Amino acid sequence: MANRSAAELALLGGTPVRTEPWAQWPARGPEEERAVIAALRDGDWGGFPLPNERSAAFARAFAKRHDCEHALCVANGTVSLEVALQAMGVEPGAEVIVPAYTFEATASAALFADCIPVFADIDPGAWTIDVDSAAALVTQRTQAIVPVHLAMTVADLDAIRGLASRHGLAVLEDCAHAHGARWRGRGVGSWGDAGSFSFQTSKLMTAGEGGIVTTSDAAILDRLHALVNCGRQRPGGSSHTPVIGHNYRMTDLQAAILKVQLGRLDEQHELRQRNASRLRAAIEDIGGLTNLRIDPRVTVQAIYQFVFRFESGAFAGIDRDVFVAALQAEGVPADGRFYESLPASELLRPDADRYPAWSAALARGPAADCPHAARTAYRESVWLPHQLLLGGASDVEDIVAAVLKVQRGAAELAGLELEQVERLRQARSAR
Ligand SMILES: Cc1ncc(COP(=O)(O)O)c(C=O)c1O
Repeated sequence: MANRSAAELALLGGTPVRTEPWAQWPARGPEEERAVIAALRDGDWGGFPLPNERSAAFARAFAKRHDCEHALCVANGTVSLEVALQAMGVEPGAEVIVPAYTFEATASAALFADCIPVFADIDPGAWTIDVDSAAALVTQRTQAIVPVHLAMTVADLDAIRGLASRHGLAVLEDCAHAHGARWRGRGVGSWGDAGSFSFQTSKLMTAGEGGIVTTSDAAILDRLHALVNCGRQRPGGSSHTPVIGHNYRMTDLQAAILKVQLGRLDEQHELRQRNASRLRAAIEDIGGLTNLRIDPRVTVQAIYQFVFRFESGAFAGIDRDVFVAALQAEGVPADGRFYESLPASELLRPDADRYPAWSAALARGPAADCPHAARTAYRESVWLPHQLLLGGASDVEDIVAAVLKVQRGAAELAGLELEQVERLRQARSAR
């Protein structure tokens, strides 16, 4: 009886493969506590004057780590994209090419900078921006391209820089997933005119919230300072062009935590990498699942989420979302529709009053088709949070065991509607 229950899918009432907790995230210890208490005690909590002492020290270390001359801490990884575009000189009304498969902020930041996001399709084997698709979208109005180093890889920075230099485009790397990653030996965030990182809770380094912009261009740094510090000029800077700025400063309490988190990055990278290699090897042997292609020019991989492609034919024809629900029921945190295809996103609806230039651009002609982004978002993508890889080999074995169990039992789920699956899921969690 016990065996039968263990073989039965947890979604249908069986025993889950995994009931033990996974590695905790955010990773934290006495070092973070000491850093926060020290900051708390000296009373210098805020971000003013910019840069405050702790955020200046953290920014120096972060810039160095990513082979950049400068970095400036900001409130989060959305405003970091917005001010970076403005500081790079991208003008209001300009078109900014972004991948169709990413978090909405990559595109909404362009709108906040009064620009028009234009969606390029992705490479279906790597999920990063397809540079040929981007090239086909360049017009007289295009001023920037924003590659996203998505999930566990780095966009093709050589091809992107080639495209940018042919057309005089600024490059802003969205590195929200890619702390510490390296392309041909050099840090991400140093290949474009600027790089943008997020320190939101799920990210590879976190202070709960936060962001940073990296650059090696002192003029960009000057403009960034003014944009995030209510228009005030950078002390010692050479730009005196007035701008109206926000208060987008990070607090020094956050910077205190981030300095410690940076020190944890190498060890965590190594552990995640080791477990990711095990998981990739296991996935190679599972029919219907495909690993993403990792370009050999990615010399240090940052794994924000472990991702793979799902093909329902090898799972009795069940929908990707049913597969993910069954995996979750087995005790493996997983997501399918982690990101939308942005041209179809509910969160990015054109609002003609608020964004007239964008609405006018959409009215000029149909948006480019992004079939790879749509297929990835709605049928194929499976995302596992990185902390699942911060344990031992037995954690990876549990993930693989859960996937195989769902595959063996998939026929029992075939034909179920998503609403029925949701009811089963709710019934399970109510038990
Ligand atoms: C690719 C990408 N860009 C931008 C952001 C925005 O970062 P934040 O949440 O810190 O505003 C995120 C994350 O949330 C992201 O995943």
